[in-house]
Amino acid sequence: MTNRWISFPDDFVWGAATSAYQIEGAWNEDGKGESIWDRFSHSAGRIANGDTGDVACDHYHRFAEDIEIMRRLGLRAYRLSISWPRVLPSGSGPANQRGLDFYDRLIDALLAANITPHVTLYHWDLPQKLEDIGGWGNRDVCSHFADFAALMAHRLGDRVRHFSTLNEPWVIAFHGHQLGDNAPGKRNSRLFLQVSHNLLVAHGLAVQAIRAAQPLTQVGIVLIQWPWEPATDSAEDVSAAELAWQRTNGWFLSPLLSGYYPHLAWESYQKLAPKVKAGDLALIGQHLDFLGINYYSRSLLGKKGMVNPVAGSEYTEMGWEIHPLAFRRVLTRLNKDYQLPPIYITENGAAFRDEVSSDGCVQDARRVQFLEDHLLQLRQAMNEGVDVRGYFAWSLMDNFEWAHGFSKRFGLVYIDYQSQRRIVKESGHWYAALIRANGYELAATGQAGDDPGLAGLSTAPV
Ligand code: FCB
Repeated sequence: MTNRWISFPDDFVWGAATSAYQIEGAWNEDGKGESIWDRFSHSAGRIANGDTGDVACDHYHRFAEDIEIMRRLGLRAYRLSISWPRVLPSGSGPANQRGLDFYDRLIDALLAANITPHVTLYHWDLPQKLEDIGGWGNRDVCSHFADFAALMAHRLGDRVRHFSTLNEPWVIAFHGHQLGDNAPGKRNSRLFLQVSHNLLVAHGLAVQAIRAAQPLTQVGIVLIQWPWEPATDSAEDVSAAELAWQRTNGWFLSPLLSGYYPHLAWESYQKLAPKVKAGDLALIGQHLDFLGINYYSRSLLGKKGMVNPVAGSEYTEMGWEIHPLAFRRVLTRLNKDYQLPPIYITENGAAFRDEVSSDGCVQDARRVQFLEDHLLQLRQAMNEGVDVRGYFAWSLMDNFEWAHGFSKRFGLVYIDYQSQRRIVKESGHWYAALIRANGYELAATGQAGDDPGLAGLSTAPV
């Protein structure tokens, strides 16, 4: 078997992603307000090793250096998020000019380096002042979010063409309000479901606000797609997996793209189902210019619950099963079930235990393998008709991995948190070469190399 060359369309967008709280630091500088993640990380026992995002990658002060790294890697696009309390310290009311100026400088520097910014408005750092009035459980916060969206669209919309409203509403609602392992750390099933609905309402209002401010802007939302797959093809396993799918992926996709909550999931929640006002579903179902998909792993569900570990599977440092094929399956399923807008893969990547060798390099061959295997499945999904326009690796650099603090490294670039030195990992060099060639050579020995589904994949000489 020979190596194959995997190529991508000419205008395919290659990027990397980060989020504000995970990299910026400067948590209380230049007039920034407190966020729920500042409050959460400052509370004892919430984050591994007592880590906080107070300094993180110090990107607030080092963004020029970081953009220079992105330029050298040849990134065509960069996905970043705005810290809401940096620009609106109380969540609403007067804007903080110094915060707005920071994002102006950041966007200008990206454009000067020929890197297209893709901006996410909310990547989990709600202003604490809004949490104090009930957070996402309070519908007033939805209109504050729309005002924040309008502010940013007015300010950046002359230079930013792609705005996403929310990053992973499922994680915000479930981990923040049911499991409590993310900020604001609440544990309340009713609240979790009401928050999930309010987030969708906030999304709808924000889409309208952005379009009113900048009619030419492309607006979307970023959803995690974590497929639930049945452990066997018994009717029992299949229906358990389907219910789990509808309660998670379908819970957001269906209102956004089909105008209703999935029946199966709604029924299963019974009295806990959220309060939905007349007109909400029409508001939520605004036309989307694109859909951002984050994919990391899948869950396998059997009679006795989740199968973990799955025999024969490899796992990342997060304890997530490595399953490139499920990536392709989720994309092709969505394409079958919904009228999808164009797709961007807004996050995909893996945490491994990276170390700096004595010669100052970071050899992360497993991450390279992970990327090769996932990009192969992505390419195959595109061949099967899924309209994917771009791919953002998570993450540009190691960063504050929420409740795991700095213990999990996802970056293409290694961060030495003591010195703030940046080292491009082997995977970063590999990614740069891929971007230059708009494709890569897949070794015949790759995990997915023998996938029979690849029979139709076009191959071209290097
Ligand atoms: C996603 C988040 C992102 C990062 C990755 C590992 O759920 O959007 O911020 O933490 O997981």
